[in-house]
Amino acid sequence: MHIEEISILNYKNINEVKVDFSPKLNCFIGNNGAGKTNLLDAIYYLSFCKSFFNSIDQLNINHEESFFMLNGNYKRLDSDETISVGLKKGQKKQFKRNSKVYKKLVEHIGLLPLVMITPSDVNLILGGSDERRKFMDGVISQYNQNYLDDLLKYNRALLQRNNLLKQFASQRFFDAELLSVWDMQLVEYGNRIHEKRTEFVEKLIPVFQRYYSFISQGNEKVSLVHQSSLYDNSFEETLTDSIQKDRAVQYTTQGIHKDDLVYYIGDYPIKKMGSQGQKKTYLVALKLAQFDFVKEISGIKPILLLDDIFDKLDHQRVEKIVKVVSGEQFGQIFLTDTNREHLDSIIERMSADFRIFNVDSGKVEVV
Ligand SMILES: Nc1ncnc2c1ncn2[C@@H]1O[C@H](COP(=O)(O)OP(=O)(O)OP(=O)(O)O)[C@@H](O)[C@H]1O
Ligand SMILES: [Mg+2]
Repeated sequence: MHIEEISILNYKNINEVKVDFSPKLNCFIGNNGAGKTNLLDAIYYLSFCKSFFNSIDQLNINHEESFFMLNGNYKRLDSDETISVGLKKGQKKQFKRNSKVYKKLVEHIGLLPLVMITPSDVNLILGGSDERRKFMDGVISQYNQNYLDDLLKYNRALLQRNNLLKQFASQRFFDAELLSVWDMQLVEYGNRIHEKRTEFVEKLIPVFQRYYSFISQGNEKVSLVHQSSLYDNSFEETLTDSIQKDRAVQYTTQGIHKDDLVYYIGDYPIKKMGSQGQKKTYLVALKLAQFDFVKEISGIKPILLLDDIFDKLDHQRVEKIVKVVSGEQFGQIFLTDTNREHLDSIIERMSADFRIFNVDSGKVEVV
C-alpha cells in the first residue's frame, strides 16, 4: 500500500501543497521550522483521523485561516482509495472515503496502517510506566478485539475498588465481602490481560533484538523484561496479601495497572546507562518490531514515517536503518532531515526508488 499524492490546504504552516510521492522512499529536507514534521503529521492524520501531536483539532488549522483540508490518493491492495478530511473552525470534521462520509471514525482506523517514529518516542524510555503499558496495549489491541474490552472493564473495576477503599477509610469501617466483588472482576480481566501481555512480549523480544543487532552491527546486547506482580504469585493471593497496605494508602497497589517493561543494555537499565544514540537505536528497534506486528496483523506493509531519524545516530547506524527499511519487507517510507549531505551518500548506494523534496516555509518542491 502507498500514498500516491497528497493535497494540503492550511494545515499548520502548510498553506497550499500538492505532491506526488515515490512508492518507496521519500525524503523531506529543510531547516528547523520549515514544515517537515507537519507534512508527516498530515499523512498520519489521513490514517488515524487525528494529528499525532495535537489532540485539539482546531490547533491544526493555519493561524491565519478558518479551515484546513487534506486529500490523499492511495493504492491499497490493487484498488484506489481517496481519503479526505476537512475541518472548519467551530465545526465538526468531515472524514471521507471515496467521497462517502464516515459515520464513525473508528471504521477508518486500520484501513491505512502506519507506524511513526518520532523524537517524542523517547518517553517510552524516560517517561513513566504508563507510557510503556500504553505501547503494549496499543499494539495488542490492534490484533485482539477482546483485549481493549478487558482493559476497559479492568479499569472500571479498579476505579470502583479504589473508591470503596476511600469510602472505608472516611467512614471508618471495612467490609471484605464488598471488596471481594471488585477483586473477582480484577482477577478475571487482569489474568486475561496478563496472559496477552506475556504472549506479546515473548514474541516482541526476538524481533526487537534482531533489529537492534542489525542496526548496531551486533556490538551491543539488549533485552527487555516484562515486570508484573502476577509472575510472582496468583493475582487473588497478591490482592489478599496487600489488603492492609491498600487500606492504608486507599488505592489498589498491586495488579496489571502497575506492569512495566524494563529495558536493558548489557546488564544495566538503558534509562540510566544508555548513551543517547543507544537509546535512539533501542527506540527505533522497538518501533520496527511494532511495524512487523502491524504488518502481520493487517496483511499490508504499513507506511513508515521516520521523523528526525538522523538525530543522535552515527553514520553507520543511519545507513543500517535506511538499508533495512528500503528492503522488501518494508513498503513506503517518509523521512525528514535538516541536512542533505547525510542522505546523498547513503542513497547513492541504494537501489530503491526514491524522491527528495525541499521544504521551506511550508512550501514543498521536488529536488
Ligand atoms: N496552526 C498553525 N498555524 C501556523 N503555523 C503553525 C501551526 N502549527 C504549527 N505551526 C508552525 O509550523 C512550523 C513548522 O513546524 P515543523 O514541526 O513541521 O518544522 P520542522 O521542519 O519539522 O522543523 P525541525 O527540523 O525543527 O523539526 C513551526 O514554526 C510551527 O510554529
Ligand atoms: Mg520536525
